[in-house]
Amino acid sequence: MLAILKMLLTSLIYLITISFMAIFCDLTFVENLFEKLQFDYVIHLAAESHVDRSISDPLAFAKTNILGTMNLLNAFKTLWQDQWENKLFYHISTDEVYGSLGEEGLFTETSAYDPNSPYSASKASSDHFVRAYGETYNMPFVISNCSNNYGPNQFPEKLIPLCINNIKQNKPLPIYGDGKYTRDWLYVVDHAAAIDKIFHNGKVGETYNIGGHNEWQNIDLVHLMCRIMDRKLNRPNGHSEQLIQFVADRPGHDKRYAIDAAKIEREIGWKPSLNFEKGLELTIDWYLNNTDWLNNVYSGAYLQYYDKQYQNS
Ligand code: TYD
Repeated sequence: MLAILKMLLTSLIYLITISFMAIFCDLTFVENLFEKLQFDYVIHLAAESHVDRSISDPLAFAKTNILGTMNLLNAFKTLWQDQWENKLFYHISTDEVYGSLGEEGLFTETSAYDPNSPYSASKASSDHFVRAYGETYNMPFVISNCSNNYGPNQFPEKLIPLCINNIKQNKPLPIYGDGKYTRDWLYVVDHAAAIDKIFHNGKVGETYNIGGHNEWQNIDLVHLMCRIMDRKLNRPNGHSEQLIQFVADRPGHDKRYAIDAAKIEREIGWKPSLNFEKGLELTIDWYLNNTDWLNNVYSGAYLQYYDKQYQNS
């Protein structure tokens, strides 16, 4: 992601919304910011993104993901009126808008939207608003929908960093339901590379699916993390697997996500660069070497969330 930031912050004026959530919900602030800095391009990544949190607080997701996106759209429209030459609103979204797959098939750019969680419903809605601003006001836009990301700096509410942290601390590894839910995992740096390519070479008005061709059932993935971490922490083989605990399922849990990334590969020339074992090793090493970062987030509000979310585990 840093590489992208460096590359983008060269000439024209960009707004990149990575951790900008509280602020972009404030329309006056956003409009003043756009007025002052005259952004030519918006790359909108900021969102509430954790499904479990959306189940306990759906309204927060509607506010941030729908109204926050609309604030950015409105500010962009107010700033440029109909003068859209060399302007772009790039909206980053998720494969979860397409709902759940059965055993077979892949999500394509023409799959019907069928969101099941408050999180995915809020992202689907924001995608619809971006397209609507394109149709109604001619705003140049592009959208990408990506599969599950993993890598350094991910908040430990998500499956992979949560397990890394719990294995390190010898805490239970909570697996929802039967653990046979499937996700298509992509290393975050590969996602960042895809965003960079779409930003520069994507066609206005188009959607691109981004995925890793890398489907894993949760239980197999957790076993793999246990094996890698036992080796890295010099623990006996099989030690961490004993921490696995099957817990109550997530309500409305989507069975399977998997992306058909043929369009971005064919039209933009992007492909994932890293195989999963390598990406997982890099990720685990990052968490093991960045204890200060982890200790900092592993406190206060996060611990309260954790205790509430996993109270019966
Ligand atoms: P998550 O990382 O929350 O991503 P998403 O819900 O966006 O796919 O979860 C990935 C998978 O792991 C999902 O099937 C839910 C499951 N899961 C668990 O089994 N236990 C957990 O504690 C968490 C956070 C997720």
